[in-house]
Amino acid sequence: MSERYLYMNGRLVPYSEATIHVQSNAVKYGTSVFEGVRAYWSERQQELYVFRLDEHCRRLFDSLKLMRMDHELTLDEMRHSILETLRKNEYREDVHVRQTAYVAADGNVEATGPTGLAVDARPRKMAGKALDICVSSWVRIPDTAMPPRIKCSANYQNGRLAALEAKAGGYDYTVLLNTRGKVSEAPGAAFFLVRGGVPTTPPLTADVLESITRTTLVQLFREQHGLTVAERDVDRTELYVAEEAFFCGSGWEVTPVASVDRLPLGQPAPGPLTRAIADTYFRAVRGEMPEYRGWLTPVYGRA
Ligand SMILES: Cc1ncc(COP(=O)(O)O)c(C=O)c1O
Repeated sequence: MSERYLYMNGRLVPYSEATIHVQSNAVKYGTSVFEGVRAYWSERQQELYVFRLDEHCRRLFDSLKLMRMDHELTLDEMRHSILETLRKNEYREDVHVRQTAYVAADGNVEATGPTGLAVDARPRKMAGKALDICVSSWVRIPDTAMPPRIKCSANYQNGRLAALEAKAGGYDYTVLLNTRGKVSEAPGAAFFLVRGGVPTTPPLTADVLESITRTTLVQLFREQHGLTVAERDVDRTELYVAEEAFFCGSGWEVTPVASVDRLPLGQPAPGPLTRAIADTYFRAVRGEMPEYRGWLTPVYGRA
């Protein structure tokens, strides 16, 4: 395809024109917040579905509020910016969308606006390979220092250090402990493990993002598999004796973990519950489960 189009403050512009100034607050201090959203192509229905669009928009509002960014964005504009970008690029395949709100002003660190809105959407498939991971020596930023609950771009320097350390050590990815020494999440994904047949995930007070996929899987486990997810603190050593583990997120979807710190999990990955929940998730996001159609926004309006 030729150059793709991005949404930039009310206009759809070619990729090369979607730029901001090097002296903007977003560049100087990382004053930007974002969403990572998936859209899935259904061959059968000839439709592209955005997954949980309104939930992503609402979280972006939370991020803007928490980072004290001034804006006049409406829910309509947020939704429209994503849908228009997808339509303009005429995507008929799985796509990952990044929606960013940034402080464009050349001011000091306290600048709160003006805030711009940009959307980029590009085709993306996950590899799905089971990962060998390590426990990071970097500690997850605590809610008392930076807000991991929301998607502030600056938060990601914490995860970046952890991911690079893992790569340097020969691992695929990593999970971080929080300042209390409990399991939190990966640099870019929520974390689940299975112990004694119980799917388990750290609570929202464990210095984790309020992940939309995490919430989705908790509901799907309950309604489709008759399993209540335990949302509780998880110790480091539980990672080594778990039967199964997986990451989840808009970007990572459901990605199985094979080993932690070179110790293989109890079940060869992907284990049975990981496979089951991944299968349910992918059917839901592609519009194959009528009871969850409310989670999907059709892009072309054919469905
Ligand atoms: C740090 C972090 N945790 C968890 C997630 C998963 O969140 P969600 O399911 O809302 O995409 C992401 C990615 O989006 C993330 O960046």
